[in-house]
Amino acid sequence: MHLPNMQDAKKRKQEKVNYIYEKPVVSDIFKGKKYYLRTYGCQMNVHDSEEIKAILESLGYAETNVFEDADLIILNTCAIRENAHDKVFGFLGRCKHLKKIKKDLLIGVCGCMAQEESVVNEIKTKHPYIDIVFGTHNMRELPSILENLNNHQNIEVYSKEGDVYEFGNLYKRDSQISAWVNIMFGCDKFCTYCIVPYTRGKQRSRKSVDILKEVKELKEQGYKEITLLGQNVNAYGKDLDGEIGFSKLLEKVSDIGIERIRFVTSHPWDFTDDMIDIIASRDNIMPYIHLPLQSGSSRILKLMGRRYTKEEYLTLYQKIRDKVKGASITTDIIVAFPGETEEDFNDTLDVVDACKYDGAFTFIFSPRVGTPAALMKDNLTIEEKEERLHKLNEKINNYSNESNQKMLGTIQKVLITGISEKDESKVCGYTENMKLVNVEADKSFIGKIINVKITDAKSFSLDGIIAE
Ligand code: 5AD
Ligand code: SF4
Repeated sequence: MHLPNMQDAKKRKQEKVNYIYEKPVVSDIFKGKKYYLRTYGCQMNVHDSEEIKAILESLGYAETNVFEDADLIILNTCAIRENAHDKVFGFLGRCKHLKKIKKDLLIGVCGCMAQEESVVNEIKTKHPYIDIVFGTHNMRELPSILENLNNHQNIEVYSKEGDVYEFGNLYKRDSQISAWVNIMFGCDKFCTYCIVPYTRGKQRSRKSVDILKEVKELKEQGYKEITLLGQNVNAYGKDLDGEIGFSKLLEKVSDIGIERIRFVTSHPWDFTDDMIDIIASRDNIMPYIHLPLQSGSSRILKLMGRRYTKEEYLTLYQKIRDKVKGASITTDIIVAFPGETEEDFNDTLDVVDACKYDGAFTFIFSPRVGTPAALMKDNLTIEEKEERLHKLNEKINNYSNESNQKMLGTIQKVLITGISEKDESKVCGYTENMKLVNVEADKSFIGKIINVKITDAKSFSLDGIIAE
């Protein structure tokens, strides 16, 4: 994939990036100004936004949640499916309107969509009101991008990832209880439908010493939970000479003694027995595994480039179930991949019946420009695709409801993270196996892990009371 103003990130001047991390400079240009940041997509984007916020606040900007009050609006975008694109351009329409009233308003687009050549061209030709565009590889250059603004659109997107630089951990974290920790960036798997290896680059693991240092700092700051983040966490370290692998990393992170450790996302192909053993043997590694299936048909899995068969997936699944007691397993499934027959789809339903997932994210295949699957022949009408998705969702919801019902009457350790969204007189949090519970308890429990008796189970959440 070639981007118009292609530059190699490796050639960039590092000083340009460094200064903000070493000595935050509140600049007179930005002091007192407000930014509004909207995030689309996955946890990586959510965590990147925590870094963008810290960068902006180092410059003197303050955050606002009221979009009309902003002097700078930034959209951190997702490219995984076509509907993400539509949502972003829908919101940009509102920004354009606001700019008619507020002439000095700055509008920026960053994240995965900014790495797509077609999107950059669309912005250049049809959206002149967008002031800045920067990609996933040069997010940390935002200060200089803002300082060097002129009256033209400033598009700075690198087509290639650079090395992983450690700058100290400059984040404005959304939570003081639970924190994201990057362990790697990018992905080398190149599943044929997926745009991530193009938008996020090749796999680059962080050094384990840096990850462990960050986790220690988080523990010292009082964090109760961390989630290790990567597109394929099981492949951690494989790109670094002499680095430890994921199971050893889990062990070392667990030794630090933070109460709860989670990780997303796993790839079945890189999931080894020693990873399962360490998850099973450590109390502070949570029994929750997100194990994307994508399809239950070995034929489709091959076309997707997933590197496992239906049978191999089921064997791995069973190993995890047998060893990690009380684990929740969730998944991602794509329906209507090009060429998917009724028989292939039934294979997917079969696997869902065998695995009885605790939950799943399900999607209709969305062709992404530049990926091999976008060139494969589509064989279904939109109605047929939706019918498959509907059928799959019904099954998934039944099993997810069933697994929640099994929790009824049990006592669960719940990390209380905030006020319940459904009922302000309650608090909410997650069980060790990642079930959302609304608990009859007051705010003083926020940030604590408490024993909760489950009194009601719904399809997507549980209710509970403090256990005696
Ligand atoms: N179409 C539909 N779903 C996709 N995903 C990734 N790429 C596509 C695509 N082109 C889904 C996969 C992945 C999840 C994050 O998004 O299921 O695991
Ligand atoms: Fe995309 Fe496959 Fe990498 Fe996941 S493993 S990010 S689906 S290419």
